[in-house]
Amino acid sequence: MKKTARAHTNIALIKYWGKANFALKTPLMSSLSMTLDAFYTDTTFEHDSSLTEDTFILNEQKQSLEDSKRVFNYIHLLQEKFGVTDHFTIRSTNHVPTSAGLASSASAFAALATSFAASYGLDLSKKELSRLARLGSGSATRSIYGGFVEWKKGFDDESSYAVPIDENPDLDLSLLAVEINTKQKKISSTNGMQLAQTSPFYQPWLARNEQEIAEIKQAIQNNDFTKIGELSELSANEMHACNLTAKEPFTYFEPETIKIIKLVEELRKNGIECYYTIDAGPNVKILCTLRNRKDIISAVQKTLTNVKIVVASFGPGVTLL
Ligand code: PMV
Repeated sequence: MKKTARAHTNIALIKYWGKANFALKTPLMSSLSMTLDAFYTDTTFEHDSSLTEDTFILNEQKQSLEDSKRVFNYIHLLQEKFGVTDHFTIRSTNHVPTSAGLASSASAFAALATSFAASYGLDLSKKELSRLARLGSGSATRSIYGGFVEWKKGFDDESSYAVPIDENPDLDLSLLAVEINTKQKKISSTNGMQLAQTSPFYQPWLARNEQEIAEIKQAIQNNDFTKIGELSELSANEMHACNLTAKEPFTYFEPETIKIIKLVEELRKNGIECYYTIDAGPNVKILCTLRNRKDIISAVQKTLTNVKIVVASFGPGVTLL
């Protein structure tokens, strides 16, 4: 049986930055994201008793065993869970522009979990798909749904999954993904989130998590762009402050990252409302409204010549093609 799923990636506005359980990828905090229309992964999962080996083809290229390990281990885990054993072929295409600087693991594992379940005829709810996607990559938990999505941290495999907050938000919100550097990150998110926990600011940040989630949900309900932007920027800064104050301090920022942070602050002072958020890499994502989009893009291009900017807005949840 062969099935294809499409999942969009997402950007966390309230960040997930810590695992409670490594194998289950249950988080220490709840997070909240925006699913993005511009970036997605299409994955075909095929299993057949006549296949003699497991194969992973990414962007038309057969991957080495080494590069397939994470994906194979994930599928073997799911197969064990559902009591199936046959060999499989995975064909995945990432429509995440290399310039975007967004992680593709969120869309990749959401599409993989969904195509796997469909190809075995498993009739799973979105909640169950979200739990399966989590076992591949934490951020994939949220890519099952469109619009604004909350990943409720829960306390075990059963209780840690995403829920839709508003799948079709009636909010004027654009995201500008500013490429600073597409080179592979030096510190993986798994390592980064572990190091961050040695910061004296980590526990106080965790203690604020439920309040921050409640506040952003209220802001979403009120269609309050300003409050959503302020809370998103705060969450990103809390995460990066923990990195900078870890026992072995580290940062994902590059000089260009700081330039864009300063630009966003400057634009805001001049009445052009925008906010930034940054993940486990140097790229900056700017949140803005349609009215200011053009001005912000040209200001970014003036600050960093030849920089690539990808524009995104709300994207849908996972679908079978
Ligand atoms: O799920 P991972 O391992 O790709 O970690 C994601 C971490 C952040 O992108 C920084 C935050 C988030 O909530 O997506």
